[in-house]
Amino acid sequence: MPFTWEGDPAESLPAGGWDQVILTAALDRREGRRGTMVSALEISIRADLKGKGLSSIMLAAMRRNAADQGYKDQALWRACHGPAGSTSACRDDGEIHVRSAGLPPYGPTMDDQDGFFGERVAAAYDESSADMFEPGVVDATVGFLAGLADGGRALELGIGTGRIALPLARRGVPVHGIDLSRAMVSRLRAKPGGDSIGVTIGDFATTRVDGTFSVVYLLFNTIMNLTTQAEQVACFRNAAAHLEPGGCFVVEVVIPELRRLPAGQNVVPFHVSPTRWAFDIYDVATQATSSNYVEVVDGRGEYRSIPFRYVWPSELDLMAQLAGLHLRERWDGWTRDAFTSESRQHVSVWQKPAG
Ligand SMILES: C[S@@+](CC[C@H](N)C(=O)[O-])C[C@H]1O[C@@H](n2cnc3c(N)ncnc32)[C@H](O)[C@@H]1O
Repeated sequence: MPFTWEGDPAESLPAGGWDQVILTAALDRREGRRGTMVSALEISIRADLKGKGLSSIMLAAMRRNAADQGYKDQALWRACHGPAGSTSACRDDGEIHVRSAGLPPYGPTMDDQDGFFGERVAAAYDESSADMFEPGVVDATVGFLAGLADGGRALELGIGTGRIALPLARRGVPVHGIDLSRAMVSRLRAKPGGDSIGVTIGDFATTRVDGTFSVVYLLFNTIMNLTTQAEQVACFRNAAAHLEPGGCFVVEVVIPELRRLPAGQNVVPFHVSPTRWAFDIYDVATQATSSNYVEVVDGRGEYRSIPFRYVWPSELDLMAQLAGLHLRERWDGWTRDAFTSESRQHVSVWQKPAG
């Protein structure tokens, strides 16, 4: 649907969501205006066809169609309907995605309501992240977090399939989670003890849940899934708002691998085999990065691209400061090895002032 929007769509869209789009489009039509951009109001996929990548194909066709007709920007508004009992994080009753017409810089974008962790990824998540499910890794993580919880409650941002939340709960720590992906959360629910963990479906940068927590944690590089600095800052503020005085926010994330990037190059391959190529792309001006996968399945190539925003420890410290937290500990990993200039990841703990 074409409609007139005077602002920069990368910065803002009509606050009234699709209602405002429909109203504006109707007024445009009455006044004989062509509209400056187009909006896809909703894409529905039959339940038995979900997870087959159809929404991307439909969106790509719509983008092509809009581009052919001379529209540069397109917006997709989607209603968010949480399952019964959950609260939805959608702002103004709708999530907003803006894409420029034509191909995005590095391949297909994701328009699944579960974000980049839709059915297909969720179904393979535990197996494809097997290293992170190793008992040694899980035990060290759980021990660290249980120590910080110190008898209080824990909130996991991006709880996923419950890799850490389930064993932490088994250890006696009451855990609540926030996640965007119903597909991931349904895997958590299917595991023993999974139905007794409270989960709120929503964006962990903004979604609030009841009560306060001794520890809020965000693992496995998931802070980088927030692809703008503003979202990452909002996430720190949201974490801080959930902490009780003296409570801690814990983040586990890689150190950006820019030392692997020679001058003049923006691509770092990390897997090459006859049927799979994987590479990261960096934009050192914006800190935008993406992991890209080309895979041959049944003789056909498939391309997947996942966007991230890399972030340095010092920038995270500033975000914490903006949220009223201070750095309490930073380690190379869960076993509290020293963090050094050679560390490839860190576990950082920021604390809310007591009282
Ligand atoms: C890499 S997985 C980590 C899952 C789990 N924490 C673990 O350590 O195994 C990232 C999870 O964060 C969720 N996620 C990513 N961005 C999110 C956002 N902005 N709001 C809520 N959940 C998000 C994904 O759906 C996914 O379940």
